[in-house]
Amino acid sequence: MLPTYTGKLVILREVEAEDLPLVWEWENDSEMGLYLNADPGKRMSMDEVRRRYEQYRTDPTSGLFIITKLDSQSIGMLGFDRLYRDIGTCRLFIGIGDKQYWGQGYGSDAMRLALQYFFKDVSLEKVQLSVYDFNTRAIASYRKCGFEVEGVRRNIAYVHGEWCDSIEMAVTTSQFAVLESLWNLTRPWADVAGS
Ligand SMILES: CC(C)(COP(=O)(O)OP(=O)(O)OC[C@H]1O[C@@H](n2cnc3c(N)ncnc32)[C@H](O)[C@@H]1OP(=O)(O)O)[C@@H](O)C(=O)NCCC(=O)NCCS
Repeated sequence: MLPTYTGKLVILREVEAEDLPLVWEWENDSEMGLYLNADPGKRMSMDEVRRRYEQYRTDPTSGLFIITKLDSQSIGMLGFDRLYRDIGTCRLFIGIGDKQYWGQGYGSDAMRLALQYFFKDVSLEKVQLSVYDFNTRAIASYRKCGFEVEGVRRNIAYVHGEWCDSIEMAVTTSQFAVLESLWNLTRPWADVAGS
C-alpha cells in the first residue's frame, strides 16, 4: 500500500478502483497521449486500465498515485515503474489530466511529494524520467523539482511531421537533500493505516 502525502497544493494518494473511469479518460485524451507517448491517437481500453491497476496493486516495482487538490478533487496521476531497491532507482511519469490546472504549480508540487517518498521513505539513490523535447512546460516543471538532463535519445518519435528527441532526466538523493531545504514544504504525513 502506498502512503498518502499532503503538499502545499495537492494530495498524493494511492489509486483506488473508483478512480479508474477518470484514469481511462486521461489515458484516452489526445493531448495527454501526445505528451506522455508522443502519440495523440493512442487509446487505452477500460480492460487495459483495469489490468494495469491490478499490476500496480500486486507488482512492488510499479505503482500509481492519484493527484488531488486539497479539496480532494482528482486532477491527475503520477506513476512509477522499474523500482529496483537493490540498485536504488525507479522511473516516473506524471500527467495532470484536468487541463485547467496546467501551469499553476500542481504538477511540481505533486512531483516534490513523490521525490520525498522515493528518497526519504524508499531510500532510492536516483529517480529518472523521460520527456519529449517539445514538452517545454514539463521540462520547466522537472527542472524546478531538481531534475537534470542525463542524456538525449535522438529521433525517438515522429510527431506532427517532425522527429523529436527523448530527454532523459534524473535527480539524485544528494541533489534532493540540498533542494528540499529550499522548498519549505509542509512535512508530508504518511497514512499507513492498513499497510
Ligand atoms: C507536465 C505537468 C505535470 C507539469 O505540471 P504543471 O502543474 O503544469 O507545472 P508547474 O505549473 O508546476 O510548472 C510548469 C512551469 O513551466 C512554465 N510553463 C507553463 N507553460 C509553459 C509552456 N507552454 N512552455 C514552457 N514553460 C511553461 C510555468 O510557468 C512553470 O514555471 P514557473 O513556475 O517557473 O513559472 C503538467 O503540465 C501536465 O500534466 N501536462 C500534460 C501531461 C504531461 O506533459 N506529462 C509529462 C510527460 S513527460
